[in-house]
Amino acid sequence: MVVEAANWSGAVRPRHEILSAPEHLRYVSGWMRPGDAGYVALDGNDTPVGAAWYRMFPRTDPGFAYVGTAVPELIIGVRPIWRAHGVGRALLQRLAGSARSAGFARMSLSVERGNFAVSLYRSEGFAVVRADYGRDIMVKLLR
Ligand SMILES: CC(C)(COP(=O)(O)OP(=O)(O)OC[C@H]1O[C@@H](n2cnc3c(N)ncnc32)[C@H](O)[C@@H]1OP(=O)(O)O)[C@@H](O)C(=O)NCCC(=O)NCCS
Repeated sequence: MVVEAANWSGAVRPRHEILSAPEHLRYVSGWMRPGDAGYVALDGNDTPVGAAWYRMFPRTDPGFAYVGTAVPELIIGVRPIWRAHGVGRALLQRLAGSARSAGFARMSLSVERGNFAVSLYRSEGFAVVRADYGRDIMVKLLR
């Protein structure tokens, strides 16, 4: 799902290239460390079709969506054949509920400009807080 998220624009960067790039690998390496949480969506055969998860990064090694310590960064990807079927929205809602229950006040994400997912995020309560080199950082208040 990291690969799906990184290839959002239809570019087909090879899986091994994405999974060996530190800026992508850091979102999954060493899973599941304290503070990590996520959901995997399964089809009727228990095959994963999408996932959304969050983790936190220190100020000294921030992720794309870093807005402060103790603000988890969200990543989401759905397999192409399953997109536009409500999987992404369901995952976002589950994950926000989970973050709220865990006591987080905010969660953040980074989205490249031009990705339709911005409208999905807005409709789920995320707002742009910072623009950054072709990307927007969005934050959702959880309380
Ligand atoms: C972004 C993504 C996670 C959304 O998941 P999804 O399962 O496709 O989303 P949903 O089916 O829940 O759709 C959510 C809304 O977006 C709309 N939508 C879905 N695909 C769309 C598309 N290609 N263009 C425009 N709108 C679209 C849906 O109509 C829906 O709106 P509605 O509820 O008002 O009808 C998924 O499309 C994906 O993995 N994309 C590639 C990776 C990516 O961009 N990741 C995020 C990086 S920040």
